[in-house]
Amino acid sequence: MGFAEMWAELLPVGRDERTGGYRRYSWTEPDAACRAWFARTAATLDLATECDRNGNLWAWWGRSGEGSAVVTGSHLDSVPDGGAFDGPLGIVSAFAAVGRLRSEGFRPGRPIGVAAFIEEEGARFGVACLGSRLATGAIDPAAALSLRDGDGISLADAMTDAGRDAALIGRDDALLADVGAYVELHIEQGRALAGLGAAVGIADGIWPHGRWRLDFAGRADHAGTTRLSDRSDPMLPYAATVVAARQAAAECDGLATIGKVRADPGAANAICSAVHAWLDARAPDEASLDRLVGRVIEAAEGAASQHGTRMHVDTESFTAGVRFDAALRQRMAGALAATGISAPVLATGAGHDAGVLAAKIPAGMLFVRNPTGVSHSPAEHAEPADCEAGVAALAAVLADLAGQ
Ligand code: GLV
Ligand code: MN
Ligand code: MN
Repeated sequence: MGFAEMWAELLPVGRDERTGGYRRYSWTEPDAACRAWFARTAATLDLATECDRNGNLWAWWGRSGEGSAVVTGSHLDSVPDGGAFDGPLGIVSAFAAVGRLRSEGFRPGRPIGVAAFIEEEGARFGVACLGSRLATGAIDPAAALSLRDGDGISLADAMTDAGRDAALIGRDDALLADVGAYVELHIEQGRALAGLGAAVGIADGIWPHGRWRLDFAGRADHAGTTRLSDRSDPMLPYAATVVAARQAAAECDGLATIGKVRADPGAANAICSAVHAWLDARAPDEASLDRLVGRVIEAAEGAASQHGTRMHVDTESFTAGVRFDAALRQRMAGALAATGISAPVLATGAGHDAGVLAAKIPAGMLFVRNPTGVSHSPAEHAEPADCEAGVAALAAVLADLAGQ
């Protein structure tokens, strides 16, 4: 099976017919179907699939236990109504690259693994890169188990319902000690490669980024009878905060987005009792990010008190800036150059498991051109020829890193 067949088989799983977007949330039915696809596809390549204590999947071509494995992969979960490529492109390309190496008669000198990390988007439980954070010890297992989804279901219950032993989650030093390098291929989430006329790029680093939950509390009341001067309406400071976030991002050369909001109780003819908003903020360096987030919080607090309401902020997740391993990056560039691929080096504001794993093992990333740059949307796209170019690039990197 080549890239196109594997891709076609995964494509319908978890796609919403109305929007055309994906709703592949961790430990749900679509996730189980994606995981079954992973194990099936691995089996066609003669790879044995294992599930680690945190629910991440690993398909192995050899397993030495000597700390030298070369692992590639990405994630299968999506944001709400996400695109087909963010995550799955890396996994399908990984399997296709392994298939290509096998058909070329390549004999690895080190084990090669294909990994699928759980809950990379944090779309269900709020913490991005949850599977890789757990594996590396970047999140406390007890705190992770008590995370709740929008329906109040805890991660512990979701894992138990999916047949996993949630008590086992946590840092997995033994597993990571087997991995000598991790290379994640991902669709580019911007238009840099399109502008440069290149099908494939190499990541330089990831901006520091995080998520903050802002809870504005006021008093529910009647929309048709409550005088303006008597209101304690949390929607007003929330609205002021959206505008302030945009302004702070522009002033700090970063990005700030409020893309998720919940108004309680949510009646068209009542003033809200509370508004919950999620701020996603990113910047090229931590000082700029601190400044940006500080300005948004200051604006939110000021607006909350001006409107007779209260505001509370919680950090849901934070990822420090990452510079990928320079030696691995050079080695990847060399392997690509040797096969005639010239790959520009790019930084990104998007988060990835490779960035979390980089704290423990040499990690690197390949990007595949996205002609419009659109991502986290059903319109996300990469041309088939560029996907094939990505597979060729990944195969070249794996062959170089895992060669005899
Ligand atoms: C992951 O896609 C993120 O950057 O939010
Ligand atoms: Mn994403
Ligand atoms: Mn992704």
